[in-house]
Amino acid sequence: MILAIETSCDDTCAAILDGDNLLANIVSSQTRFHARYGGVVPEVASRRHLELINLVVAEALTVAGVELGQIRRLAVTTRPGLIGALLVGVATAKAIAFACGAGLVGVSHLEGHIAANYLQPEPASPPFLCLIASGGHTSMIYVAAERDFRLIGRTLDDAAGEALDKGARLLGLDYPGGAALDALASSGDPAFASFPIGLDRAGNFDFSFSGVKTALYYYLRDAGAEMVQRRRADIAASYQKAVISALVKKVIAAARSLNCSQICLAGGVSANTVLRRRLGQECTSRGISLRIPPPELCTDNAAMIASAARFLPDAPHPEWLSMGARATGGLLV
Ligand code: KG4
Ligand code: ZN
Repeated sequence: MILAIETSCDDTCAAILDGDNLLANIVSSQTRFHARYGGVVPEVASRRHLELINLVVAEALTVAGVELGQIRRLAVTTRPGLIGALLVGVATAKAIAFACGAGLVGVSHLEGHIAANYLQPEPASPPFLCLIASGGHTSMIYVAAERDFRLIGRTLDDAAGEALDKGARLLGLDYPGGAALDALASSGDPAFASFPIGLDRAGNFDFSFSGVKTALYYYLRDAGAEMVQRRRADIAASYQKAVISALVKKVIAAARSLNCSQICLAGGVSANTVLRRRLGQECTSRGISLRIPPPELCTDNAAMIASAARFLPDAPHPEWLSMGARATGGLLV
């Protein structure tokens, strides 16, 4: 029985996993506390985590119908993320593990996103190519086995979700605007305007989204308020198309180059309707199987951290008493 804690950004999360059985998966979102600032404020996130973490852990135990004494392992996200936010989770996990005499394992947030694919209802097994696309990360990782990762590509600047959120903001939508942009774009014409696809001809599997965001900024400035208001849905659809096209093109190109017949998605952007439709079509026509975990396992959660912990050894005791957190790092390190 694993109790997992995830506090790397602005969601306070705890989950209890018993073998393959997810007994509780609690997420307390702080979005409304950050919305007025147009993005996550690290210090606000740390303070909210401090206020919420004990309540969220208690809720997970109640929902699972489990006593703290039954927990044999603690798993916690130690990297990458907002350092103050991570430290709240790490300190909590250490305290509970110490009090219960349980084992403790530090988990990479990215390995967690990948391991969401091993959970029910449709657990995947390696090898597969995993696209992690969220507000904080955009990476492509070839997973040869549960502990055998190869970084195939990553964003050189903004994450895909960040680009969608910033584009949404330029179009007057509230933070985080990814889902609202998706909804607005659904009634628009994606061929209305042309926005650049980052690193389209670079010959690698990296991404770049800062150029398309700047292109939207100048497009809106030059188009004039009246036209922008009238063609908002068309502009949203055209902008979203450029961001999603970069993801679809590079993932398919990477899968072909690796001769990989399975693609898995992770991160909040996997909820995007155009990404799901276009990647689905591309995969079907190429005989590639596409797996997308349920939305609550794609966005940040602690169930994915518990899932990843199943493939990791406990940190040695008493050395884990000095376990820290890191803002950077990712796979294996
Ligand atoms: O994984 P996640 O919950 O948190 C991070 O680690 O960032 O992902 C949140 C991101 C945000 O950028 C949000 O706008 C985006 O996922 N997102 C979407 C959609 N729903 C959420 N982006 C595009 N289309 C959506 N339908
Ligand atoms: Zn994440």
